Amino acid sequence: MMAEALDPASISLGIGAAVTGFLARFPDVLCNYQECCRPEWISYNKTGLESDLQSKLFGQHVASRVILKAVTDFMNNENPKKPLVLSLHGWSGTGKNFVSQIIAENIYQRGMKSRFVHLFSNTIHFPHEAELKLYKSQLQQWIKGNVSACPRSMFIFDVMDKMHPGLIDSIKPYLDVHETLNGVSYRKAIFIFLSNAGGKEIMEVMLDFWKIGWDREKIELRHLKKALALTIFNNKNSGFWHTSLIDENLVDFIVPFLPLELKHVVQCGRADMISRGLKPNEEALEQMARDMTDFPHDERVFAERGCKVISSRLNYYI
Ligand SMILES: *[C@@H]1O[C@H](CO)[C@@H](O)[C@H](O)[C@H]1NC(C)=O
Repeated sequence: MMAEALDPASISLGIGAAVTGFLARFPDVLCNYQECCRPEWISYNKTGLESDLQSKLFGQHVASRVILKAVTDFMNNENPKKPLVLSLHGWSGTGKNFVSQIIAENIYQRGMKSRFVHLFSNTIHFPHEAELKLYKSQLQQWIKGNVSACPRSMFIFDVMDKMHPGLIDSIKPYLDVHETLNGVSYRKAIFIFLSNAGGKEIMEVMLDFWKIGWDREKIELRHLKKALALTIFNNKNSGFWHTSLIDENLVDFIVPFLPLELKHVVQCGRADMISRGLKPNEEALEQMARDMTDFPHDERVFAERGCKVISSRLNYYI
């Protein structure tokens, strides 16, 4: 009996098994504490996205609808043919960055802080045209490296209209329909392009409806399609990046962001005050919104800078 219990071979076997078992479970334990490319950290919350779009994003019923449907269909598809590519258009301050953040928060536990979410801004990441060659290979490597590590990666490109066409060309292969590309599948990734292109054209459509007394909420995607198509195929306004992406069917959804009106600016201001722990001062909000809705200059219907500068503006009024 004793001899058997002390058999060194069986002891070492026992320890060996324990160590192997521990090592096998080690990643599981680690993933309780550290973000991993697994469902505990990455899972789509449709109800959350829907309610965030409804309660936090102001004046964008068209964009809300398109985005909820696009993201839901894509996330529920076990076997998408290509990555999801969204192109968000509209004036600055209308909520394009904010929507990207809301999408990230309802897919990744850590939202924009997730290591699987990548935000690229032309002015920060690719400032010097002379370095184009370096940027191209860097960006390709980043996309490849990150998607290899986690297929459900998200890439957001801010100020897409200022991005060098050559740089955009370099990411095109990843947006297309491929089983795999050099052994990596990009079909679960999400790409979001943000651009101010089309803002003016969207505003003109809105203004026409406003003049005939149309209800803003009655405006649908189809009413804006022509204006967006004009922008997209008019090189002067948006650069040819867009033409080529659309021509090659790489963009799945073009999402228009409407210019904001007085009541939306008030809503943004109210949300801002609440988030700062202040009691909303309706009179100040109303005054600020009136001063900000200054466009077009003779009609003064829309806030040209949307909700972008609200936080600093509000300080003058309260
Ligand atoms: C992932 O992307 C980031 C930029 O967001 C980059 O710094 C990093 O090197 C990339 N990782 C890999 C493995 O390529």
